[in-house]
Amino acid sequence: MQPSPQVTAQPLRLLHLSDPHLYDQAEGRLLGMRTRHSFEAVLERALASAPADALLITGDLAHDEATGGYRLLRDRLEQTRLPCYCVAGNHDHWPLAREILGHFAPPSGSIVALGNWRLALLDSSLPGEVRGHIEPAQLSALGAWLENNRAPTLVCLHHHPVAVGSAWIDSLGVDNGETLVTLCADHPQVRAILFGHVHQAFAQHIGRLELLAAPATSVQFLNQSRGFAVDTRPPGYRELLLHGDGHIETRVIRLGDYPEHPDLEASGY
Ligand SMILES: [Fe+2]
Repeated sequence: MQPSPQVTAQPLRLLHLSDPHLYDQAEGRLLGMRTRHSFEAVLERALASAPADALLITGDLAHDEATGGYRLLRDRLEQTRLPCYCVAGNHDHWPLAREILGHFAPPSGSIVALGNWRLALLDSSLPGEVRGHIEPAQLSALGAWLENNRAPTLVCLHHHPVAVGSAWIDSLGVDNGETLVTLCADHPQVRAILFGHVHQAFAQHIGRLELLAAPATSVQFLNQSRGFAVDTRPPGYRELLLHGDGHIETRVIRLGDYPEHPDLEASGY
């Protein structure tokens, strides 16, 4: 049973982290960066800056489909004593993740309450594929729920449902993302779609609907890049203030003084 946030006039503070790519080994590196270290640094900074109400991690929890990364994540999430929600990424072994993470990894399609807000947790992963897809059953279940529930809602998944401007990674988003975006845009209670996978901050409006990516807690990818390219920007997270009237304030916070840097010569991962 996850703790429930207090319902107050104050906005709820949701911490959105993504793509930790944790390894089984404590010193495991992604493109030269020790991902356990960067994840712990980002989480520590996010928790220290102001009291939080909940934590969301949008996939690629572990890089190597091994138990060690998921165990570390479970232990850290337990220590936060916050409601924490994870969704599946293309690098995840979701059955293993769910077995270890327990209530931190609700079943795909779950809709969880956060004060008067709701979070719809979708699974966009496809076994053996880097690109994403949302099964029609998930979309129809979300659509049916939205027909009968008017609470301000955040739809959360791993893959990007819209192009972010980098040709190589835009070929690896949700292949039916347009259907999801149309569904959400047609239901004004959906205030934002939150995602990761792109390893860069991103924000766009489609009408009143916000499309928001969190940067990775690990390696960053260069935005507006035709081919694969690593960015020098440090790891970070997105903060969302969820107001009772349904509006969102959001910003991206990076660890400007983070000492470790990725291998800029990498040609892929
Ligand atoms: Fe990732």
